[in-house]
Amino acid sequence: MVTSSQKILVTGGAGFIGTHTVVQLLKGGFSVSIIDNFDNSVVEAVDRVRQVVGPQLSQNLEFTQGDLRNRDDLEKLFSRTTFDAVIHFAGLKAVAESVSKPRRYFDFNLVGTINLYQVMAKYNCRKVRTLPTFLSRPTFNFIIMVFSSSATVYGQPEKIPCEEDFRLQAMNPYGRTKLFLEEIARDIQKAEPEWKIILLRYFNPVGAHESGKLGEDPKGIPNNLMPYIQQVAVGRLPELNVYGHDYPTRDGSAIRDYIHVMDLADGHIAALRKLFTTENIGCTAYNLGTGRGTSVLEMVTAFEKASGKKIPVKLCPRRPGDATEVYASTERAEKELGWKAKYGVDEMCRDQWNWAKNNPQGYTGKP
Ligand code: NAD
Ligand code: UFG
Repeated sequence: MVTSSQKILVTGGAGFIGTHTVVQLLKGGFSVSIIDNFDNSVVEAVDRVRQVVGPQLSQNLEFTQGDLRNRDDLEKLFSRTTFDAVIHFAGLKAVAESVSKPRRYFDFNLVGTINLYQVMAKYNCRKVRTLPTFLSRPTFNFIIMVFSSSATVYGQPEKIPCEEDFRLQAMNPYGRTKLFLEEIARDIQKAEPEWKIILLRYFNPVGAHESGKLGEDPKGIPNNLMPYIQQVAVGRLPELNVYGHDYPTRDGSAIRDYIHVMDLADGHIAALRKLFTTENIGCTAYNLGTGRGTSVLEMVTAFEKASGKKIPVKLCPRRPGDATEVYASTERAEKELGWKAKYGVDEMCRDQWNWAKNNPQGYTGKP
């Protein structure tokens, strides 16, 4: 059961997936506290969340500007509030940047997350002994965490669809941080059973909130396909480089499992409910994908249809390290979380275009 007294800390809540999830949390009756350092986001994104949910639900939202790498920022937050759970998005995510700046990735992703675990353990772990003490076992207040993992932990999957029990493999420093952080979560939970942790492995999050007020706003030239296509559509970039046209796929371009960010947001609510209602969840991984693969060229066509804009493409060599075809097995999430993606690529492109045409320069309106 959810009461607005259930308070969720959302790290990185000003970012792309964070803002959409915070909206769904507030609408779902939770209170939310965001901590973000604006490394890859802007304060306007939090204002937009308030606009989307309205003045009443906005009263259940708090924001703190802080950095997870700075333990004091977390200590301050946890010493004044007891959180029922943490959803941990904060981190860096650009694969190419992680190759040239691995220390930056280890600092943000590893140090930031380890600090978070330490502070959660210090403040949330109140072991309450029921009376009479000599007869009963100590009962724990569980420490609950939802962690943003990624399909990147499957590396180059040997088979598709990717199942959660597949062998895991990192292909670059970013992927290594996600793999290490999954292992760290498993180790902590094994040693300290009061932790309940869900690792959510996102496939390719795209789309935007249907209001057109929230969406992805990457700094600099986008690395990922859909933000790139979006910037071509609004005239910020001249054409799309399609990396690889000789893959053994139906049209020669690579295949991914694109998932609407609102479906992803709802997946977090489903994970929280599971954590609140299941005693022995331990540390469990779930894929969040649609289970369907779409090629790069099919995404271009779908976006052209949604936007009415022509996306000029240039066929280029494959991008090093890219897999041919990746999509999720969604069985475990469907069965155990009771969650299934609702939207297809047409809705993803429709909502992303609605965001793009209303915000061609992103949140701040500045080029
Ligand atoms: P994002 O960059 O939009 O959001 C991350 C947020 O975290 C940003 O607002 C940033 O300012 C904040 N942040 C980063 N480091 C911080 C720190 N040390 N302290 C406080 N705040 C910090 O990214 P996103 O797409 O919303 O991704 C969220 C999470 O999901 C990340 O952990 C990412 O690795 C993971 N993920 C994303 C994708 C994707 O394609 N978007 C895919 C798989 C996994
Ligand atoms: N692509 C292009 N042109 C571009 C950008 C991408 O053709 O300008 C192609 C890529 O080569 C790939 C496909 O579009 O074939 C998807 O590429 P993205 O960069 O959008 O996504 P990836 O599947 O490579 O990786 C993304 C995130 C990773 C995450 C992974 C799984 O970047 O962090 O999804 O969640 F791990």
